[in-house]
Amino acid sequence: MDIVGVLAVAFWVMLPAYVPNNAAVLVGGGPPIDGGRTWHGRRLLGDGKTWRGTVGGIAAGVVLALALNAIRTAVGGPLAGLPAFPAAAVVALPTGALLGDIAASFLKRRTGRERGAAFPGLDQLDLVVGSLALTAVAAPGWVLATFTPPVLVTVLVVTPVLHVSTNLLAYKLSLKSEPW
Ligand code: CTP
Ligand code: MG
Repeated sequence: MDIVGVLAVAFWVMLPAYVPNNAAVLVGGGPPIDGGRTWHGRRLLGDGKTWRGTVGGIAAGVVLALALNAIRTAVGGPLAGLPAFPAAAVVALPTGALLGDIAASFLKRRTGRERGAAFPGLDQLDLVVGSLALTAVAAPGWVLATFTPPVLVTVLVVTPVLHVSTNLLAYKLSLKSEPW
């Protein structure tokens, strides 16, 4: 596969993992998942991880993956060469992405970082680790066939770039209170 093909596959398969974070920013708020609980004097997760953001974000990712499957079938042509999402991946990609983000907040609180503090590296790759780990368990054959070494390397390079640029955009649009 050429570089354009690899980029297309990497972006396509990760879209249902990318969108939940952005959707959570838009719909988040209300009761936090940790219910305000603390551990060793610090919040378990913090006010930035809410039920509404998590459920809404996962729902957005599931709807998107189903839409991509439908578009791929309807349009055909070049899109037919892109991977279809099996049901297990439809659910696991967005769920794993937000679980990775939640795990990152847990680690941030344990290391004394307040809500909204940056943790370079973790902030950009938590969703990749979370979504790929959960999807590898839910749909191992699909993950092995889809995330070939070139696709995996592309995902690891492209995700931080997209993360930084979309968060900067969300900050400029006043949707997010920090630019990371
Ligand atoms: N959000 C949410 N639920 C989630 C993830 C995100 O409601 N599971 C919403 C929150 O409103 C959050 C915003 O999206 O403030 C931005 O997400 P993020 O940057 O991950 O959270 P932070 O507020 O920066 O908190 P943390 O330091 O824990 O990452
Ligand atoms: Mg943040």
